[in-house]
Amino acid sequence: MPSLNWPGKQQTPPQPASLTLDSVVHPGGGATGQAEPLSRLYLGDNFQVMSALLGEYEGKINLIYTDPPFFTNRKFPARIGRGEDSRKPGEWQLAEGYGDSWNSLDDYIQFLYERLLLMHRLLAPNGTLYLHLDWHADAYARLLLDEIFGEERFLNEIIWAYHGPSPIRSAFNRKHDTILCYTKNPDYTFNADAVRVPYDPSTVKTFAASPKAGFGKVPNLERGKVPEDWWYFPVVARLHNERTGYPTQKPVALLERIILASSNPGDLVADFFCGSGTTPLVSARLGRNFLAADATFRAIHTTRKRLVEQKTVSFGIYTSTPEPGETILQELPDHKIIDYWEYDPDYDGKVFRSTQQGALPRRGSGSLPPPPESKPGSKGRFRAVTIKGEPAVLGG
Ligand SMILES: C[S@@+](CC[C@H](N)C(=O)[O-])C[C@H]1O[C@@H](n2cnc3c(N)ncnc32)[C@H](O)[C@@H]1O
Repeated sequence: MPSLNWPGKQQTPPQPASLTLDSVVHPGGGATGQAEPLSRLYLGDNFQVMSALLGEYEGKINLIYTDPPFFTNRKFPARIGRGEDSRKPGEWQLAEGYGDSWNSLDDYIQFLYERLLLMHRLLAPNGTLYLHLDWHADAYARLLLDEIFGEERFLNEIIWAYHGPSPIRSAFNRKHDTILCYTKNPDYTFNADAVRVPYDPSTVKTFAASPKAGFGKVPNLERGKVPEDWWYFPVVARLHNERTGYPTQKPVALLERIILASSNPGDLVADFFCGSGTTPLVSARLGRNFLAADATFRAIHTTRKRLVEQKTVSFGIYTSTPEPGETILQELPDHKIIDYWEYDPDYDGKVFRSTQQGALPRRGSGSLPPPPESKPGSKGRFRAVTIKGEPAVLGG
């Protein structure tokens, strides 16, 4: 088999981060006794995070969806502010989102390769990997995956098609992404019945007109069909309720199809480039546990806020750089600068366990819910994130 080579190609040995449990979030109260929830968010570089997870999770993750930078050599700013409605630019601002700039294609491919190797190790024997890219690098990634998984473990190349404006006038508009899908073994989870869709109306009409239309094979029109390997879902646009303002956010509907098809309730689903948190959000909604990582505080905060809003599961947040004590607050600063607060009624000085949270609604005109009163001398403490997406600090 041909394989991909580049200067500096190497199977980098794992470099585990030293991860500590920073906080446990119990959205709206919940079962506060549980020490370390099964669903977990990690703030840090995913190479080090995944290296650290090998000890506990090697061969244990049933499904990994991964949506890394695409090698666009661009920066993707985040939009922050109320509803970030494009018709009201006075109400939102741009802030740092994440970068996708590389010194060379070799650097990018090495970055991807060493992470895909770890993902392969973390996958369970029945596990599946979905790698989401576009035309910039999907051809290289296909060869990397053939090498790591074996070309016989290729399951699908899914085309996610969408619409949207484009400045291109000298070529066809590039309006699809490619999701490469590989399984660890020949025995893998695929729940065809969980993802069936209605037949096309023209097919239904044809069979209504003539039962012989399928050369004797009559499809079960009521049950619907397993989708083809090309999918249409609209991109998350500015007026969609699910929109967070985090750049390149993927639609809930896309992740629903992947998670329903390739995992079962109670399984462990991971996304080590989680961005706004679409994978953990949908995993929790569908009764799966999740592991999710991102290198930026903004991504982890956006994910936490969505999970708190959804109120489905308690989750832990782990970091490799312990937050300085000045993020533990006795009182909240001026509410006008606050996007999100959480309250631990009995802070133990180590792990922040929040049982109440309040967030500025992502859209509309709602206001920040009032925080509880922390009585002088009590162990009740707050943590908060500002509208700019930064941790609020003492005296800040
Ligand atoms: C394409 S976005 C993911 C979007 C996500 N699927 C969603 O629905 O919002 C890629 C993400 O990878 C993160 N990222 C890039 N390099 C990383 C690294 N080395 N470790 C962890 N996260 C990284 C970026 O911060 C960014 O949030």
